Amino acid sequence: MELQLIKGDITQLHTDAIVNAANSGLMGGGGVDGAIHRAGGPEIMDECQLIREREGGCPTGEAVITTSGSLPAKKLIHTVGPVWKGGHSDEEAKLHACYINALKLAESNDLQSIAFPNISTGVYGYPKSDAARVAINAVKSFKSNVITKVVFVCFDDANHQIYQQLLSE
Ligand code: APR
Repeated sequence: MELQLIKGDITQLHTDAIVNAANSGLMGGGGVDGAIHRAGGPEIMDECQLIREREGGCPTGEAVITTSGSLPAKKLIHTVGPVWKGGHSDEEAKLHACYINALKLAESNDLQSIAFPNISTGVYGYPKSDAARVAINAVKSFKSNVITKVVFVCFDDANHQIYQQLLSE
């Protein structure tokens, strides 16, 4: 599995799947969630609403898949990162689960390349270096015969520098 690092806007990526850092109500929001819904159009929210009606949303650490609307990626995977509460509320296990469950969903949908944003490191306040370690460890631990490429997409300089350092170790 090839690991790539990119600095930029995840909505521009042509990977088979891109991942959204959503909330458990799948209600849309700011940050990367807002950017994805704006760029992908209303079809995405329509499917989120169906999932909400059927399953009540998406619990923290889990993942669901929808259309990518008008985004260049084939599919959109929504996962819900933990809100940082000081590190004593199982945040690490939940963040790890986000990456693993998104990868599992990509695999079961035969999606070979997937791009992740830095889940939980914006509004949800997860310390960036800690979150990057969790993300990289989770992806490296995932053995797959389907997924050939994982892209870490960093939007801000701080995350990009952290990932550059950790991926070169
Ligand atoms: N492409 C890639 N990454 C982006 C983009 C973008 N277009 N826009 C923002 N980011 C980055 C931020 O720099 C941050 O590092 O996404 C990371 C995650 O930040 P948030 O989007 O705030 O996500 P999170 O911390 O997981 O909080 C989720 O915010 O928008 C709401 O609905 C969302 O309630 C949920 C919460």
